[in-house]
Amino acid sequence: MTEYIKFIFEGKTFEFPVVIGTEGEKALDIGSLRNKTGIITLDPGYANTGSCTSDITFMDGEKGILRYRGIPIEQLAEYSSFRETAYLLIHGELPTENKLKRFSVMLNDHSPVHEDMQYFFRNFPRASHPMGILSSMVTALRSFYPELPDMEDEVDTTVTRLLSKIRTLAAMSYKISKGHKVVYPRPDLPYCANFLNMMFDSPVRPYEIHEDVVKALNIFWILHADHEQNCSTSAVRLVGSGKVSLYAAISAGIAALWGPLHGGANQAVIEMLEKLAAQGTDVKQLVARAKDKNDPFRLMGFGHRVYKTYDPRAKIMKATCDKLLTQFNINDPLLDLAKALEEVASTDDYFISHNLYPNVDFYSGIVLRTIGIPTNMFTVMFAIGRLPGWIAQWKESMDESQWKLGRPRQIYTGPVERDFVPIEKRS
Ligand code: CMC
Repeated sequence: MTEYIKFIFEGKTFEFPVVIGTEGEKALDIGSLRNKTGIITLDPGYANTGSCTSDITFMDGEKGILRYRGIPIEQLAEYSSFRETAYLLIHGELPTENKLKRFSVMLNDHSPVHEDMQYFFRNFPRASHPMGILSSMVTALRSFYPELPDMEDEVDTTVTRLLSKIRTLAAMSYKISKGHKVVYPRPDLPYCANFLNMMFDSPVRPYEIHEDVVKALNIFWILHADHEQNCSTSAVRLVGSGKVSLYAAISAGIAALWGPLHGGANQAVIEMLEKLAAQGTDVKQLVARAKDKNDPFRLMGFGHRVYKTYDPRAKIMKATCDKLLTQFNINDPLLDLAKALEEVASTDDYFISHNLYPNVDFYSGIVLRTIGIPTNMFTVMFAIGRLPGWIAQWKESMDESQWKLGRPRQIYTGPVERDFVPIEKRS
């Protein structure tokens, strides 16, 4: 039975239905608010606004729960591969053995990129940020591989092509930025191993694929694969709602992810830790700066809009980090600093009262450093991981029952009507 919330405005009572999700989450459906009452809601940053209903990812920020299609992130990180998790997110169910094989073959078949795309890379200035390059290259894919989005099979081909090629494009951009020869994808390697090989293999030093590194990369990408209506996913849905191509919508997501408050935080964390190590600053001083309201500095890798407890992804990332460093017998001073920083922050009243805990980005940079990924590629790694989520969300939003052009409203606070003043009369 539908429940209603009563709303009294200018002496009149209006009723709006309550929508209840499968996990008991409740929302007030204000779809008819403006038509009935003439008013709109105001919610900068959309902290209280549900922009859609979705079957893909469930998060409980108070309890620290994250599930893809109902399956806990802890189980996926332990038992699944990134490839399989990508399939789950995009198709809604875990694949059978045959379906996974077919998906893997398709990923391999689509992995090379058009040779002409290399010319684009070569003409970007050397100092270009890889996120800017990736975003441009994904848009450029539309010119090389036009989509045919009307039939289910062709949508599958388009999204698989994108999943496959993004990994090739990222590795290619790294090789070209170093002035090295591009390494082509190998049909015998699965998704993560293939990426590592394209990144690090060279004629002078053949890359040795290590199962522990492959596992760590699988976990890293699984943890990033979706996170419901975050900034970049909302960008994908909003841009996609104008019925642009999938490539253009994903490119918008990549651009949104770039920022240091979102995906760019993994790069910002390592830069913060490196600076801390180089300057020999006491971690307590850094925490004091983060609390100082006159200082714009924030502790990168801490805090989250939804999680008001420890980010479940950060727990897995921290354990992966410890395991990887132990396996390779590496002593990374940045890990010691990160742990010291977490220790101080986790016992600090400000951090406790503001519910500020480490998020996924706090330990992920150390994992990536250990794998050999350069710092300026960290956010690209996040983007490759988030791609299945963006695709799943884009597909869901394109469904005719969900699709609606995204177009928020505003409350205007500028000058009221006034006359144009000719330039000679302006003071
Ligand atoms: N360091 C110090 N203070 C903080 C921090 C931080 N990292 N994060 C939030 N606060 C304080 C903030 O100053 C404010 O204090 P007060 O209420 O006293 O004025 C309060 O906490 C709420 O902050 P907010 O910016 O209104 O909260 P939000 O929900 O909009 O912010 C956030 C979420 C992620 C932007 C923020 O926590 C932040 O800037 N963190 C650092 C950047 C970061 O690590 N981003 C990665 C997020 S996880 C990856 C992803 O999924 O995108």
